[in-house]
Amino acid sequence: MYPSLVYLNGDFLPPEQAQVSAFDRGFVFADGVYEVIPVYGRRLFRLPQHLTRLNNSLSGIRLANPLSAQQWQAVCTRLIEANSSEDQSIYLQVTRGPAPRDHAFPAETTPTVFAYAQPLKYPAAEQLANGVAAITVPDIRWSRCDIKAIALLPNVLLRQQATEQGAAEAILIRNGNMLEGSASNIFLVVNATLVTPPNGPYILPGVTRDLIVELAHAHGIACEERDVRQAELASASELMLSSSTKELLPITRLDGKAVGNGQPGPLHARLHALYQDYKRDFRAGKVD
Ligand code: PDD
Repeated sequence: MYPSLVYLNGDFLPPEQAQVSAFDRGFVFADGVYEVIPVYGRRLFRLPQHLTRLNNSLSGIRLANPLSAQQWQAVCTRLIEANSSEDQSIYLQVTRGPAPRDHAFPAETTPTVFAYAQPLKYPAAEQLANGVAAITVPDIRWSRCDIKAIALLPNVLLRQQATEQGAAEAILIRNGNMLEGSASNIFLVVNATLVTPPNGPYILPGVTRDLIVELAHAHGIACEERDVRQAELASASELMLSSSTKELLPITRLDGKAVGNGQPGPLHARLHALYQDYKRDFRAGKVD
């Protein structure tokens, strides 16, 4: 369902009135970046972290941020106010704007800025209780996966492959290393230690991922950020994925085989509870 209000280039409009040039470089070249920011209890969750990542994505594509942090906050706040849900997610994107088609940047650009809020769709209770299936696939993306680019065709194709095989996520493998999911970061449990690949050019630095690592450190849960070989996945006792919209979801089947005993594990239960506690404190204004 479309939202009832969107932000486009300075205006707040019903979506049917929001129009973008067919020559927009976002449309023609996928020349743009985006963010997804969760909203809990009508408060923007980890806004500074999301805006920092937006800035990094924009400098990665050499586009100046068209709005200040205060302006982004004001846009998001107005979109949240127009929506009745307590928990929402904000989608925002910035493209290099309209210009006659030429691969090189146009001399003058007016970026296109688009944003909307929608109710946050939590994963089904059944998925949280029993876990989801995932498949491993070769990573066919580029070498700047740290940029949250709107060019998501590889991610789309790989996720579709997972969907057609009855799986919720595709886990990407490059040079024998497990990197992340098509739209999530991945954690595994090896010898009772939480393990996730380090941030770098081949993964998106997930805001949820970073919070899970933070929570693990704060609560004495052994946690390592290190390269993960694909072969380790088979011996992991737990596997889970994280993202702003899925939070922390157990993966209980990988490539048709049970992960561990085939049930969500104790470390997932602990971290998921810590995440929910954190959200509760955030709603109450006790943490940022
Ligand atoms: N995707 N890795 C990739 C490739 C992603 O697309 C995402 C999020 C993540 C997790 O990042 P975060 O925890 O900051 O949401 C990791 C969003 C949700 C999307 O494309 O809809």
